[in-house]
Order: sequence, then C-alpha cells, then structure tokens
Amino acid sequence: MSKKFKIFTYGCQMNRYDTETITGYLEAEGYEETESNESADLILLNTCSIRDKAEQKVYSQIGRLDKLKKTNPALKVGVCGCFATRDGEAIAKRGKAVDLVFGTQNIAKLPMLLEEMEERRVVDTEPIAPDFTELAPMVRGGGLNAFVSIARGCDNFCTFCVVPYTRGPEWSKPSELIVDEVERAVEEGFREVTLLGQNVNSYGRKSPGELTFGGLMRRLNDVNGLERIRFMTSHPKDCDEDMVDAMGESPKVCEHLHLPVQSGADAVLARMERGYTAEEYLEKVSLFRERVKDGVLTSDVIIGFPGERDEDFERTLRVLREARYDNIYMFKYSPRPGTPAFDMEDTLPEEVLTERFEEASRVQREMTESLHAELVGGVQEVMVEGAVKPRSAPAGCAGCPDFADESDSNWFAGRSRGNHRVQLYAEGFTPEPGDVVEVKIMRGGIHSLAGVSPPSAVVMEEGE
Ligand code: 5AD
Ligand code: SF4
Repeated sequence: MSKKFKIFTYGCQMNRYDTETITGYLEAEGYEETESNESADLILLNTCSIRDKAEQKVYSQIGRLDKLKKTNPALKVGVCGCFATRDGEAIAKRGKAVDLVFGTQNIAKLPMLLEEMEERRVVDTEPIAPDFTELAPMVRGGGLNAFVSIARGCDNFCTFCVVPYTRGPEWSKPSELIVDEVERAVEEGFREVTLLGQNVNSYGRKSPGELTFGGLMRRLNDVNGLERIRFMTSHPKDCDEDMVDAMGESPKVCEHLHLPVQSGADAVLARMERGYTAEEYLEKVSLFRERVKDGVLTSDVIIGFPGERDEDFERTLRVLREARYDNIYMFKYSPRPGTPAFDMEDTLPEEVLTERFEEASRVQREMTESLHAELVGGVQEVMVEGAVKPRSAPAGCAGCPDFADESDSNWFAGRSRGNHRVQLYAEGFTPEPGDVVEVKIMRGGIHSLAGVSPPSAVVMEEGE
C-alpha cells in the first residue's frame, strides 16, 4: 500500500508553488496525498518566516503534531520552507516530533532525504544550484490559474526582509524552460498563469543573452490557448519602460501591477535600502497610468519601521492618496533576527503601530470604495471560476436580480483582468469555468464587484 502525505502551506504564493513541486516529487516516489492528519504517514509543514507571527504558527502546529505522534508513532513529520531554512537546527531541537528539515533551495534532494529519514533524523538546509536543464515534477493545485516561478531568490537585501537569507541569491529560470512550463500548464487545462519571482523586473539581468522581463511577457503572449498572464512581485527600482510597455501592448497580460511602496517617506525608504524616493516611485506610477489603459495598482506597506516619525507616516498616507491603489497589503513592522533593521534603534511602541495601522486602513478603505464606485456602470471582462451558492447574492446591488429561490443557480464568480473579484448574474445562459464573459458592473463593494452578463457577453469559451 502506498504511503500517504499531507502538506500544510503557510505564507506566500512562492511557497504554494514549492508545495506543488514537493507534491510532484512525493508522488513520483509513490506517495499519495490525503486530506486527514490521522491517515498520513508523512506530514510536512511548508513554513514562512516573513513576520514573527508566521513563525509562531509553525511552533504551535509542531506542538499539535508532537501529540499526534504519540498516538501514531510511525508518523514522520517534516518542516521545510523559509523558517526551516533560517532556523532548521533550532526547529529540530525544539520539536521532538520533527524527523526531517529541508530548505527552500534543496527541494530537488527530497527523494534522497526521504530515504535518509527512514534511518535517522535529517536536517539539510544546504543550498544546491538549481537544475535548469529540465522541469521539476509538479502537481498543480486546482483552479484556473497556474503558478510558474520565473526566478528564485533575491539580491536586494531590503533591511527588514529575511527573503535574501532564506531563498538565497537571485537565479532566473531560462526563458525556454518557462515557455515549456507555461505550455504544459495550458495542456493540463489552465487558462491563466501567474509568473512568480521576488523581483520579476530584474528577470534575466544576470544571464547574458536572456530575455528581459518585458521580452518574456511578449514571448508568453504568443502561447496558444493561454488566456491571461499575471505576475508578481515588481520592485519599483527595476520597473522600467520596457516592462510597462510590454504590459500595455500584450493583450494577454492583465492590467494589474502589484508595486510595493513599503513607505512614502524618503528617510524611511533610505533606511529600508529600497533604492528609490517617494517622488521616483510616483513617477513609475504615472508611467503605468499613462501606458496601461484601465490599469489597476496594488501595493505592500510596512507601518512603523524603526524611526518612523509622525511626518513620515503622513507621507505614506499622501502616497496612498496619490497612487490611488485599488488595494494594499499592510503590515506592522516585525523585527526579524539576522536582518540589518533588527539592530536599528527607535523601534515604536505597539500602540503607535496600531494607531497608524488603523488610520492607514481607513484612508485606503476610502480610496478602494471610491475607485470601485467609479467602476459602476462600466463593463469588466471576467473569467468565470464557478457558480456561487444561492443566498450569497451581493447585498445592495441596485439593479442586480435577486435569487428567485434556493435553486436559482445563475450567479457565478470570477476575476476581472484587474484582479477584482466579481459576482455576476448570467442572464439566460450558463457559463463554464474558464469562460470569459463581459459583466456590466452594478455594485462596487469594497471586497468585490457585482453585475449582470447578458447572453451576448461571452467573449471566449473554454477550449477555444
Ligand atoms: N515586517 C513587516 N512586513 C514585512 N514584509 C517583509 N518583511 C517584513 C517585516 N520584517 C512585508 C513587505 C513585503 C511583504 C511580502 O511582506 O511589505 O513586500
Ligand atoms: Fe525582501 Fe526586498 Fe527582496 Fe522583496 S525585494 S524579497 S522585500 S529583500
């Protein structure tokens, strides 16, 4: 009987991609995925280290697995991902249940490590150079969107960030291999890809003769059967005209740019070593607005970096208003051991962090509301993901039909090109997952838009 495994994934999309690769390796070794902890022979925690909270979650989960191991001594427990890379020895010492620790940069060694684990406890976080001669085995998650990593690691060393230490230096995957991977995903039925990298804009810069990121988008725009291309994350200092123009000119590249600003104050940006000023950042935003029609912009913001003064915070609020973000991910600064910012003075008390966090959330909420209200009356192209259950009809959608009764199945959900979640009422037709339909927007809520699709609204049917 084949062995069963279960993986818990924490943190970012890159971790989800790694989980899909690890799943590929495990299935190639004859393991089978299971939903339940009790039936698993191997449980892996794919961890995140970006903020302290993420690490604490892992320790509580290891504690629970310690207990499970008492009832099932044959169970093997593994820890991988960023936290494992950063602190593998400490995790192994603290978590008695842990049999295997491996890093983000040696996943390809997994078949060998699994064998070793049968004999003894294994902690191996030693990076190996990526093998870019062939595609790693992968078992992708469901849905319409396939993650495709285009580069591994990061060379930027922003002073608050652990990623360069946990994921190592930047390596770009050769573009032919990326094209192969995207084509394979399309053959498997995916309609959309999200290109992943810590800094997609510096793609190829260290590989002589390689395409630029703009060139890569143009190349992928030619892949038959692919409907949409998304990407993240962009670094403002490397976001250039080539990339913005490629976005504007490639019909399959969605008009959504995630461009983390982190702070709106030059003094803070300098201490973060981000490599741009607020003014330079806003110039990139203007370039995007100019070249990409109906562009949707999102961002990451860190609140309360050491030494952030009231006036620095005010400057961040100013950028939120000027950049007109559709949405932002906002984080309270979390000191990470081993990073330069960890030793910086003038850390701020929790009350100040909370106060500023709430104020920035308020400002952003108003911005999101006003931008989404502007979309009402317009048309969005939506890729349908599936039906939404009756009774979850959008509240306050003036002009949207109500659910007639519980069997009314004409409400569907999907994503706009700008990555808005959209609920739509299909008038007299039944779209399939993967269909692209036009939706007349009738409500612009803070978390989602809602509207109606007439039968003539089908732009592209799945399989075309
Ligand atoms: N504290 C708070 N937020 C952080 N991020 C990265 N490191 C930290 C930290 N130490 C945020 C940044 C980054 C996002 C992925 O996580 O905003 O863009
Ligand atoms: Fe971290 Fe900066 Fe690299 Fe992003 S660019 S992963 S924030 S070091």
